[in-house]
Amino acid sequence: MRALVTLASDRICLRQWRDEDRDAFAAMNSDARVMEFFSSRLSREQSDAMVDFIQKHFNQHGFGLWAVEVPGIAPFIGFTGLAVPSFSAHFTPCVEIGWRLAFEYWGHGYATEAARLALGYGFGTLALAEVVSFTSVTNHRSRAVMERLGMRHDPVDDFDHASIPEGHPLRRHVLYRLGAGDQPSRLEE
Ligand SMILES: CC(C)(COP(=O)(O)OP(=O)(O)OC[C@H]1O[C@@H](n2cnc3c(N)ncnc32)[C@H](O)[C@@H]1OP(=O)(O)O)[C@@H](O)C(=O)NCCC(=O)NCCS
Repeated sequence: MRALVTLASDRICLRQWRDEDRDAFAAMNSDARVMEFFSSRLSREQSDAMVDFIQKHFNQHGFGLWAVEVPGIAPFIGFTGLAVPSFSAHFTPCVEIGWRLAFEYWGHGYATEAARLALGYGFGTLALAEVVSFTSVTNHRSRAVMERLGMRHDPVDDFDHASIPEGHPLRRHVLYRLGAGDQPSRLEE
């Protein structure tokens, strides 16, 4: 099995998941504020299954949705990282970047900082040509992270997410793209 990387900045650490993270992850997945832009909150079983899936993804690809730790503040605040979507759309196959933090850790810049670490790894070590991100049209906090990262949105890329039923208000998604050549130099800081 390949060694799995840990990434760190002055404030945060992106690390592999531990069993102790599962309680905090289940709590955030049952929080209506965190899950506002998903079709439903997750049960404990669904939350644990997601951790299992994330760990399988790391073993398959060598990268994934890292657990985010803020040393001295909290051992686990959520996840940020890179993933290969399992559905088909006009922009797949691709590598996406995604994030989900517990509500009490919003508003500190942690998601953007964690995403910069993940993008530095994706464009550096993995030599990716492009990273995409997508979310429901009305998820303005997530879109703001994408925009802070310098990702670009072209409305011609917007799409209906296949796993959300027709007529559901969250079905319409925006797609943001960042190419290796577009990356701001601070990603490598
Ligand atoms: C999407 C999500 C991660 C964004 O969290 P966020 O806290 O808004 O984003 P960041 O962590 O980058 O923090 C940015 C905010 O922290 C502030 N901030 C405070 N201290 C900061 C610092 N030291 N450095 C940078 N920003 C700082 C920024 O000004 C900004 O505030 P604003 O939103 O009032 O403009 C969060 O809302 C979430 O987990 N949502 C639920 C899951 C979800 O929808 N995920 C996306 C699905 S595709």
